Amino acid sequence: MRISTFLRLAAALLCAVLSAHSVQAEETLRDQARKLFDPIPQTAPATPNDPVTPEKLALGKMLFFEPRLSDTHGISCAICHNISIGGVDGGELSGDRNVKLAGREVQTVLNAVFNKSQYWDGRASDLKDQVVNSVMANPKALLKSRGGPMAINPVELTASKQHAIDQLRSMPAYVDAFKKAFPEQPDPLVYENIGRAIALFEATLITPDAPFDRWLVGNDTALSEEEKTGVKLFIDKGCASCHNGINLGGGAYAKFGVVTPPAVEHLPADDQGRFGVTKDIADRYVFKIPGLRNVELTAPYFHNGSTFDLSKAVSVMGASQLGVALSDDETRKIVAFLKSLTGRQPEVTLPILPPRSH
Ligand code: HEC
Ligand code: HEC
Repeated sequence: MRISTFLRLAAALLCAVLSAHSVQAEETLRDQARKLFDPIPQTAPATPNDPVTPEKLALGKMLFFEPRLSDTHGISCAICHNISIGGVDGGELSGDRNVKLAGREVQTVLNAVFNKSQYWDGRASDLKDQVVNSVMANPKALLKSRGGPMAINPVELTASKQHAIDQLRSMPAYVDAFKKAFPEQPDPLVYENIGRAIALFEATLITPDAPFDRWLVGNDTALSEEEKTGVKLFIDKGCASCHNGINLGGGAYAKFGVVTPPAVEHLPADDQGRFGVTKDIADRYVFKIPGLRNVELTAPYFHNGSTFDLSKAVSVMGASQLGVALSDDETRKIVAFLKSLTGRQPEVTLPILPPRSH
């Protein structure tokens, strides 16, 4: 055998071994990832307790965009949960109104259907409960509760349920839309049904086909090498012990500052998180572990919107939750992975809302 042929053969053999090795590494990483995470499905999850109909969805969408549910007739769900910008409002503490009344950063409605509870402190059990029991919280009662632990968050529409019902009843097109959506009920224009319809519409706001999900289901080239290293770091460093499941979070609670308390700018003393709901000392500064889907679109970060910088959020997490100082290179790779969680954004045709009649 000539030397050059031998070298060529040897090189080919080496390549084969190396690529078998990297195929194996890819499979091992993917197997590990599949145990921890699930892809977003292509279609909205089934709602066996409240079957979807086109009429309910159409009504839910109208109500989501309906500003006349609010006391000023100027604020709809869509103002703070803007579907054009990741289901948030992009501001620190949700604009002026919310600073005064709430003091928390908006969480996205995208993929919220997969969360086990709603809000930073998990005080609503699901999407319907969120609308029926807290979105219309009476601002006066809530203002009284300020100063103490934040029992309920005086956010969102700051109007009474009666106001919403009166407004909707005054518009014949809504009376008709409720009848069509809930044909089995003699008087369907009730608050409970506002919650049911909005929740069903929100459940359609999901974002499948993120590069990470395409990789998870078997497409090797959907992630770059840097992003794959990011996945590995995210698992190896321990991030995935909290941020796991379909939303990489949203399923459990954790103290912000498990190992070291973060700087006060990220965790001001006055919002004690889940303690406000349970009154259990062990829940002080415990928050719902946020989902990380579309996280590159949902800045600013943390419950008080204290940073717009995703790298900073990642390094704060490393130090406060895991006690590790991530290098700049590690942080960059984790951020690259987090950006691969951006999925196909829902395409929503704007509903045309009925004119006011008084
Ligand atoms: C003034 C701004 C504002 C308006 C209007 C508003 N929200 Fe929110 N929303 C927020 C803020 C802020 C939070 C986080 C509050 C908290 O955790 O205490 C939130 C949280 C949520 C969550 C929880 C998401 C999660 O992952 O936990 C859902 C769902 C939601 N809102 C739906 C709605 C719906 C439906 C409407 C309309 C009926 C609405 N919001 C109107 C600001 C708003
Ligand atoms: C012990 C559980 C735990 C671990 C481990 C953990 N996190 Fe978190 N993460 C949380 C909680 C709780 C919050 C919410 C903190 C707050 O704002 O109150 C959070 C918030 C975040 C946010 C901000 C999300 C947003 O929408 O505001 C990012 C990004 C994040 N984590 C990434 C990571 C990364 C990367 C790691 C690993 C280096 C990690 N986390 C480790 C529990 C954890």
